[in-house]
Amino acid sequence: MTSISTLLPTYATVNLAALAHNLSRIKRYLSPGCEVMAIVKANAYGHGALDIAQSLSRQGIGRFAVASLDEGIALRQAGLSAPIVVLGALFEEQVSDFVAHRLTPVVSDGHILPALAKAVHSHPVPYPIHLKAETGMGRLGFSPEELLSLLDDPILQSPLRVEGMMTHLADADGADSTFTERQLEAFHALLEQIRQRGLTIPLVHTANSAAIVRFPEAHFSLVRPGIMLYGYHTLPASSPAPDLQPVLSLRTTIAHLRTIPRGGTVSYNGTFVAKRPTRVAVLPIGYADGYSRRLSNRGSVLIQGRRAPIIGLVCMDMIMVDVTDLAQLRVGEPVTLIGQQGQESIWADEVADWIGTIPYEVLCGIGSRVPRLYESA
Ligand SMILES: Cc1ncc(COP(=O)(O)O)c(C=O)c1O
Repeated sequence: MTSISTLLPTYATVNLAALAHNLSRIKRYLSPGCEVMAIVKANAYGHGALDIAQSLSRQGIGRFAVASLDEGIALRQAGLSAPIVVLGALFEEQVSDFVAHRLTPVVSDGHILPALAKAVHSHPVPYPIHLKAETGMGRLGFSPEELLSLLDDPILQSPLRVEGMMTHLADADGADSTFTERQLEAFHALLEQIRQRGLTIPLVHTANSAAIVRFPEAHFSLVRPGIMLYGYHTLPASSPAPDLQPVLSLRTTIAHLRTIPRGGTVSYNGTFVAKRPTRVAVLPIGYADGYSRRLSNRGSVLIQGRRAPIIGLVCMDMIMVDVTDLAQLRVGEPVTLIGQQGQESIWADEVADWIGTIPYEVLCGIGSRVPRLYESA
């Protein structure tokens, strides 16, 4: 792929055909009637929440989840009309904005309910909320006992309507399934007690990407895939890997070429010292674009379909790579940091491995000044 232009030297491409492919693979794990609620928080893991949500809407996805009120408002204001669940923390001061933007809160703490009930008091139709049970994540959620007593509380009567019940699995991608099985047992027991009280909750959801693949008993009426939509998984080696296609590629362009002598240094603090006369390419991307400083003297990029190692510390706006072994380079030459170039590829999971993290962090971290360009094939 050639660089779009030196007017736009650093950019990400987002392949919507790959997104559609991944969605079709996710659906293969689901029983009829089980819906997908697409996780588009953190700017759709760095891919662009609005474009991803619109593309998934065109493929029949009718429900989305974000982490925060402002992420939900941004999607509403951009015209997304589908239900949007806000998974993250909820504050009393936010409830009127939730209602004004028709966002569905996940309630994890009873203290919020009086304010919420007041905010929807004159709402013409029941206002949906989801309740979260804490079964082992150790994060947000009611204990099953708290939840059962809450369900008897008149505050949960109209105009509030308990549309959803959820929990979050802490170890669905762990090699040992015991912890997840225990969480699911606790959640099933809670659902059984709710059923015995004659209550029906239409949307029940627990499964993130790993649980979609590994725990069919976690599917219920709705699943919550994030990372698999974007083409990655973190499943243990014992699980057959799903056939996914990474959606995002990160590219830049050679801005400058220079040759330094043996003993010359590159970037701050002289952490790279040339052991031979070294051809250095300067690339206009840095940690301010989300290209982690931990990649200093560690990562590689692709130029002419070959790997070129990063030398010296990653700067805020630039990195330098060793291109001594590459022939006939010129300023303007396309560079791939995440993606395929020729026969070679570097994907976000490899970048994550280099710096001891997960592909989620690499993708979410891609900065707001990197334009996202959407392509359908
Ligand atoms: C509550 C909740 N559900 C679902 C997901 C999606 O997880 P994954 O990206 O592993 O599919 C997340 C992501 O962190 C989450 O916080």
